[in-house]
Amino acid sequence: MAHVVVVGSSNTDLVVKTERFPKPGETLVGGDFFLFQGGKGANQAVAAARMGAEVTFISKVGKDLFGKQTREGLEKEGVSTRLVLEDREMASGIALITVNELGENTIVVAPGANAKLSPSDVQTALQDIPSHAFILCQLEIPIDTISFLASYAQKENINLILNPAPAQKLPESIYDQLFLITPNETEASLLTGMPCDSDSDYPKIAHWFRNKGVKQVLLTLGEKGTYFQNSTQEYQIPAQKVNALDTTAAGDVFNGSLALGLAEGMSWKDAITLATKAASISVTRMGAQASAPFRSELA
Ligand code: ATP
Ligand code: RIB
Repeated sequence: MAHVVVVGSSNTDLVVKTERFPKPGETLVGGDFFLFQGGKGANQAVAAARMGAEVTFISKVGKDLFGKQTREGLEKEGVSTRLVLEDREMASGIALITVNELGENTIVVAPGANAKLSPSDVQTALQDIPSHAFILCQLEIPIDTISFLASYAQKENINLILNPAPAQKLPESIYDQLFLITPNETEASLLTGMPCDSDSDYPKIAHWFRNKGVKQVLLTLGEKGTYFQNSTQEYQIPAQKVNALDTTAAGDVFNGSLALGLAEGMSWKDAITLATKAASISVTRMGAQASAPFRSELA
């Protein structure tokens, strides 16, 4: 069984459907309310597990009800939680999400215990994992922890995939330690300082990352699909046409599925195609982890 290690956040998502987003100072009466399991790390872990990976998840929750529910939810998905740590002082992570009638979202995260996942927590946890070819991480945990992971991956010859979400600047030293970076358009633009809007922008953005030492670059372009580049290959793969109900976690389902595909030894094209199919299904469903498809649904 392909093994993927995910290091990252777990949140409880408090979601309200609304026709449109409120303006500053405005109170809107919205629609239905949902409580979902979320957090970029946990979403990616569940997406990989539903695709068929053996997943070890390294994360931190609070000693509270949301932390308990997070752990139980992951266990039901077959994700190992033995390395989901508990912080006695901080609350578990929360995300306040609105979803409009186009399926777009706004998200505010209160990281809580996620902000306490330290380099030494991760160092200790990694010693407890027998062998791992791929580690997948995001930016909802401290940047020092990401820097530690990047150095660890380089030293141990492990392929580190960074989904640089939510967007924030990265230390220069990280780039040449990355096997793959998977920014969306906003993240790519913030990191490079270049526009990421049109077909002619994508190769330039990918070159920028590769010049910094990243081995592979995959830009996720929402309903436009993806652009991939490494030293020998370049593809633009369109998204599947679907009616989007809720795009929350489309990127997470994409990244989790992609990591599984790569861990299974698929070619870049096949792994990206698998992840594209999985993400397109997820946007037709409400919720983060709840929207991730199982492998059997891709046929
Ligand atoms: P999010 O923040 O919403 O989780 P993201 O911004 O990280 O997502 P996107 O680039 O929006 O990532 O989406 C990731 C992938 O999901 C896309 O490359 C595409 O394959 C698929 N996808 C996203 N939105 C749609 C859509 N409306 N229709 C079909 N596929 C989509
Ligand atoms: O990517 C979607 C996720 O972002 C949500 O589940 C929310 O918890 C925030 O982390």
